[in-house]
Amino acid sequence: MEPAKKIQSSEQWTRLCRIEDVREGAPLNVEVEGLNPLAVYEVNSKFFVTDNLCTHGNALLSDGYQDGGTIECALHGGAFDIRTGAPTTLPCQIPLKIYEVRVDDGWIAIDAETGTEM
Ligand code: FES
Repeated sequence: MEPAKKIQSSEQWTRLCRIEDVREGAPLNVEVEGLNPLAVYEVNSKFFVTDNLCTHGNALLSDGYQDGGTIECALHGGAFDIRTGAPTTLPCQIPLKIYEVRVDDGWIAIDAETGTEM
């Protein structure tokens, strides 16, 4: 597992990591004080952020397997759509919280207050 990154805040946008820290197929775990652990993904040159804790159990999705826009949990093989947070494979049934993402001067940032559950 990658080491967690520290945050820097800019207004309501919370910077998580640099764009070069994330590669498609290698989601990044980011820990921000006051927020759930987050997973940052690249899918087709776009960046997405979800809660990193699987909604089925105690596993970090950044330890799982990314296939395009799908993240498969390493613990029981459930999966989610990275772009919407929707569960796509059982045993996962509860959606992941997703966050609005902005790229700002090479930083991937989220609006932590508007994280949504589908
Ligand atoms: S903990 Fe993720 S599928 Fe069970």
